[in-house]
Amino acid sequence: MQDQPHQELIIVLDFGAQYTQLIARRVRECSVYCEILPFTTSACDLAARGPKGIILSGGPASVYAEGAPVADPGVYELGVPVLGICYGHQLMAKQLGGKVVPSERREYGRAELQVVAPDVLFQGLGNRLTCWMSHGDTVLEPPPGFTVTAVTSTTPTAAMSNPARRLYGVQFHPEVVHTPFGLELIRRFLVEICGCSQSWTPGSFVEEAVRAIRDQVGTAGVVCGVSGGVDSCTVAALVHRAVGDQLTCIFVDHGLLRVGEAEQVQRDFAAALGINLISVDASERFLKRLQGVVDPERKRRIIGEEFIRVFEEVADNVADASFLAQGTLYPDVIESGVGVAANIKTHHNVGGLPDVMRLQVIEPLRYLFKDEVRAVAKELGLPDSIVGRHPFPGPGLAIRITGEVTAERLAILRAADAIFLEELRAAGWYAKVWQAFAVLAAGVRSVGVMGDHRTYAHPIILRAVTSEDAMTAQSARLPYELLERVASRIVNEVPGVNRVLYDISSKPPATIEWE
Ligand code: XMP
Repeated sequence: MQDQPHQELIIVLDFGAQYTQLIARRVRECSVYCEILPFTTSACDLAARGPKGIILSGGPASVYAEGAPVADPGVYELGVPVLGICYGHQLMAKQLGGKVVPSERREYGRAELQVVAPDVLFQGLGNRLTCWMSHGDTVLEPPPGFTVTAVTSTTPTAAMSNPARRLYGVQFHPEVVHTPFGLELIRRFLVEICGCSQSWTPGSFVEEAVRAIRDQVGTAGVVCGVSGGVDSCTVAALVHRAVGDQLTCIFVDHGLLRVGEAEQVQRDFAAALGINLISVDASERFLKRLQGVVDPERKRRIIGEEFIRVFEEVADNVADASFLAQGTLYPDVIESGVGVAANIKTHHNVGGLPDVMRLQVIEPLRYLFKDEVRAVAKELGLPDSIVGRHPFPGPGLAIRITGEVTAERLAILRAADAIFLEELRAAGWYAKVWQAFAVLAAGVRSVGVMGDHRTYAHPIILRAVTSEDAMTAQSARLPYELLERVASRIVNEVPGVNRVLYDISSKPPATIEWE
């Protein structure tokens, strides 16, 4: 999809820091729109985007290392305010003629910052501040024309500024929560230095997105695969608002859904959105293709391929469909575009469709984070049942059964999962966790005793995690009583299960799903 016009854009140049996304989040939290671009973006290309400000991210390299990433020096000549953070700060210092040296001691963690010169970034924040540092190199002398505005006991240039050129650098990380004044510093940069009006809201996003979709689609037809999750429903609602009945949604039931899910998606869709929906029950096809398949990646590939086939067959019959609307989110874009992410799991999505179907792709959410999608969904009037729904993976329950997927195993998992979610909701925990679900360890059996009988059955594993963006996650500290209640109900009510375990692994090193 064409980039939507954003009147006030902040660009974060990514030098490979683990916190780059966090910088972007903080900027958005200040109601200012921002995008992450690779550090290789030329000053000319940056200027063409008309940013109100540029932030140079941190990064793992040393500015002196061979092949260390550098910014196009023209970035400092654009007349646009620039804020360098950590590596970005050191890079700015080096590129503009300052002196950067390896620190005698690496500074890592909490540090006391002393503001030593008046500066717009620190105005009103006091002179002694707690910040969070993580660096090996240090700026010994700032470039000509710069003033040192803050120091720590080990860092002689913890912050520097050249207000005449609107260039600023901070050695510490304002984007992390351990720098308590960090968000305010970022806000001051955006508002006081870049002159942003903090007008980027879910409402303004919807207006801009609807306009852009209308311009792009014209009178053509659009198809959209919906799963019932918040991303696809939000895309559908946005496109519907833009082009009404030119949109046809397709829901493929691959037979790997939870109890009542297919019915619920269709009901919610009709009630909440009033959009044309074609539902296809393809469960038999999928189960057949999954017969005998044990390897998680093979399962994922089979489901991905089959999904495309079914979708394609249905979409071919939608008159005048020229566009495919997808719920791609910003983290997917960043992972596939900027960073160098290892392939841990082949995430199922409909990314293969455009080539196959020669449909043009529209991705209205491609610059949003999950929590922003939820805000947009609310703005569009979607019900809480959709807005607050936990993510559910495309391959569904197939990747929550370790081993072969069979109808019998699906029935066991569905029943256990339903009990877990029912109890979680009743205890008020559903909305407090990112995701919660049951896993059937079908390859494992253990001995138990029920009544006077020996059992030899499968364990169910419960998994509930908290997370901000699914990149990292912690096991949720559910009350023990709740876990015991769920465990007892599952063993008593679900034949074929005699043991229940709670997965307390975090991500990393585990992942959220089991396969
Ligand atoms: P992992 O297991 O990689 O999951 O920690 C991270 C998040 O992604 C979801 N997930 C998927 N979503 N298609 C999807 O649409 C997939 O193939 C897929 N695999 C995992 C998972 O539920 C979690 O929210």
